[in-house]
Amino acid sequence: MTECRIAIYPGSFDPVTSGHYDIIVRASRLFEKLIVAVAPNPAKQPLFTVEERIAILQEVCASLPNVQVETFEGLLVDFAMKRGAQVIVKGLRAVSDFDYELQMALTNRRLCPQIETIFMMTNSEYVFLSSSMVKEIARLGGSVQGLVPKAVEPHLYRKLGRAVPNRETNRG
Ligand code: COA
Repeated sequence: MTECRIAIYPGSFDPVTSGHYDIIVRASRLFEKLIVAVAPNPAKQPLFTVEERIAILQEVCASLPNVQVETFEGLLVDFAMKRGAQVIVKGLRAVSDFDYELQMALTNRRLCPQIETIFMMTNSEYVFLSSSMVKEIARLGGSVQGLVPKAVEPHLYRKLGRAVPNRETNRG
């Protein structure tokens, strides 16, 4: 049996949310090394540059010694092969994620059968969460406390040119 030592957790991470971070922490316990791979994904018109997303992720993951943050261009499986990774980790939030994730996992397997995709269920607290939702709340002046790791908040509001809101704002 081959041991799975290196895993890749890919995404846009624009920005990293608490849901992503939960997956990162749990996956980092399963593998010797976890590479968080930031995809440029220009189709999404990102708020943060790739360099900024990497810097934020590095700050957020500073206490996780076996987590490395990188970016990649081109096919994910090619990047995984270059890094000697055996596994792609993806988070599943709800049934609505399933079709798209299945399609990606099967495509990646077709492209590179040696690499296995594994799915981790997102913590129930974060099933509704996405980077877009976090950006929208912040853009409209709401508090994203608890929705993103603490270190992300100042970056987000600074980038949007807004002051960090009063923590009580969302509680009515
Ligand atoms: N908690 C909170 N939010 C989560 C989450 C979690 N656990 N898991 C996913 N999300 C959110 C993401 O923030 C993202 O939100 P957004 O649309 O508002 O940005 C959304 O769910 C979709 O996430 P995901 O499906 O992981 O898409 P992505 O854009 O973050 O990443 C890549 C997609 C990069 C993994 C994929 O496009 C890829 O592999 N590209 C490389 C090219 C390639 O190899 N293509 C062939 C593969 S088929």
